[in-house]
Amino acid sequence: MSNVAVVEPRVLDGVAIAAEIKSELVSKLAEAKERGYTPGLAVVLVGENPASQLYVKSKVKTCAELGIYSEMHTPAASVTTEELLALVESLNERDEIDGILIQLPLPEHVDTERLLEAVVPEKDVDGFHPINAGRLLSGAPAEKVLAPCTPAGIMEMLRRSDIPVSGQRAVVIGRSNIVGKPIAAMLINASATVTVCHSRTRDLAEITREADILVAAIGRAGFVTADMVRPGATLVDVGINRVTDAAEFERFFAGDAKRMEGFAKRGSTVVGDIDPAAFRVAGAYTPVPGGVGALTIAMLMSNTVKAAAARRSGN
Ligand code: GUN
Repeated sequence: MSNVAVVEPRVLDGVAIAAEIKSELVSKLAEAKERGYTPGLAVVLVGENPASQLYVKSKVKTCAELGIYSEMHTPAASVTTEELLALVESLNERDEIDGILIQLPLPEHVDTERLLEAVVPEKDVDGFHPINAGRLLSGAPAEKVLAPCTPAGIMEMLRRSDIPVSGQRAVVIGRSNIVGKPIAAMLINASATVTVCHSRTRDLAEITREADILVAAIGRAGFVTADMVRPGATLVDVGINRVTDAAEFERFFAGDAKRMEGFAKRGSTVVGDIDPAAFRVAGAYTPVPGGVGALTIAMLMSNTVKAAAARRSGN
């Protein structure tokens, strides 16, 4: 028997942290009620993308649980940019709507950029408007910015789990406007030393092995393997990739009885951008499912409550 201590990695439980955030919102919502208003969210879902339908359903359901007013707008995939602009304009003007969320991706023919810029920044609960993106990059105080929900959820998870950020080396894989770029900005604002990698990065594994905090947001199943991870690092997995192929399933989950049962029943499972084998060398990690995903919705609720309060206080 060896007497080398085997340290089990810490699981960062997104569901539990999201529940904590939502329970804090309940008291803020009671305050809003006392002041005579109910925060309201309008969700725009274009077409019939099944993944988007699933996300939107769970956003609307969470609104109902918390007592946030919500309404869904579901134009057909053939809708024009002009028609969508008119819809956004009407939502901008309605006082009972505090947050406007346009579920992405939009169909090819729709001008996404024009649409996101049409949402008034005060109701931009996704934080995708250039004004909010710019404020985030400028390091404006939190109460002045509506920040994108997934990266905001990651920062909240790190903070509530007492994972140090200041002075740490953070590596982000992925440079999307939704996750990669804003999480890099937030980590910089929190005084981490940040490297952003992407599909053209040379010697990727050399860079990722430097990371104290590694964020994977690329949308490729199990892309980050154990050899790319510094032992003890914190791994943040933003990926949600559906696995239906039996050989691929075996590669990630061989020997995992619970996963096998689910896969046999449903014919699919989800895996993140990080190979589950890499979690075993981590100091802490976010599981998939049950990690970052749960926080995205909690932060959307939080942004809606924040936007409602800010608009009424004239901030
Ligand atoms: N599609 C994937 N992630 C998101 C998100 O955070 N917000 C919106 N609106 N669409 C998305």
